[in-house]
Amino acid sequence: MPTPRTTAVRKGRTREPILTMSNIGKHFGAVKALTNVDFWVNEGEVVALIGDNGAGKSTLVKLLAGVHAPDAGRIQFDGVDVDIPSPADSHALGIATVFQDLALCDNLDVVENLWLGQELRNGLSLDEVEMEERTWMLLRELSAKLPSVRTPVASLSGGQRQTVAIARSLIGDPRVVILDEPTAALGVAQTAEVLNLIVRLRERGHGVVLISHNMADVMAVADRVVVLRLGRNNGIFNVADVTSETLIAAITGASLSPPMPATPHTDRTPATPDDTPPPEGIVSLVGRGRGRRGSTGGTR
Ligand SMILES: Nc1ncnc2c1ncn2[C@@H]1O[C@H](COP(=O)(O)OP(=O)(O)OP(=O)(O)O)[C@@H](O)[C@H]1O
Ligand SMILES: [Mg+2]
Repeated sequence: MPTPRTTAVRKGRTREPILTMSNIGKHFGAVKALTNVDFWVNEGEVVALIGDNGAGKSTLVKLLAGVHAPDAGRIQFDGVDVDIPSPADSHALGIATVFQDLALCDNLDVVENLWLGQELRNGLSLDEVEMEERTWMLLRELSAKLPSVRTPVASLSGGQRQTVAIARSLIGDPRVVILDEPTAALGVAQTAEVLNLIVRLRERGHGVVLISHNMADVMAVADRVVVLRLGRNNGIFNVADVTSETLIAAITGASLSPPMPATPHTDRTPATPDDTPPPEGIVSLVGRGRGRRGSTGGTR
């Protein structure tokens, strides 16, 4: 069996969309959960996916996680059309999803949680030394602070547990990491730790999808924000050019924004409003300036 990698360096890549969803539709019986939704994630980019309760955020993510199949539309990974019929297929493509319940085993320690189901072996026995070493390496790379990797996760704080869940998702070296409300249950200091971790993920070159209801978190770490409302796109914004009031207005449907293209960009320079007419139904306030953090290539 191939050894799962904990770290990977892919230098010299350009910032390109890893994952593109176009015209996605999904209904559950009479409920139209998603209609004509466009969404994409670039390398080394944090995309916040926001919207009110029932807007369709979890449904969109579940299509990527292989939990549900879309009824309409197209999903492309590295420019190639893909189906994601199961969670195993999602994982194999390079998509890792950290759901809100984290699914950690409380009685197991940090190392055991990270490698559960993908243990490293040395002959017939488990290679505990190698697993522990790689765990430390990964946590160091993420600048994560844990008292010990041999502590049962039951004794860790909420933020530390989130850290373990995120670190575990990186085993196997996913290209896209999806985090569902990672700071929802956390205090101020723990939230800061998790936001810091998200920045590290971006620096490693992962495309990060952050589902959040917290505008402060979104403004702090996201590069781009995709707003869903009633199962449809209701804005794609560069964080550098938007206020949380505008985002809230887009969530609630109060915004009247100039329409903008919603095609994937290969760097952080947004297209100008006059370049291309937007697909119907897309509104956005993407500005003309570069994102706050410039446009350097991914670091992996
Ligand atoms: N398995 C399902 N069966 C039936 N309806 C569903 C199912 N999953 C989602 N829905 C419906 O689809 C719509 C979108 O739900 P979804 O969970 O994607 O919203 P959300 O944006 O994640 O909301 P929240 O912020 O409350 O988590 C809702 O109307 C919801 O009731
Ligand atoms: Mg949800």
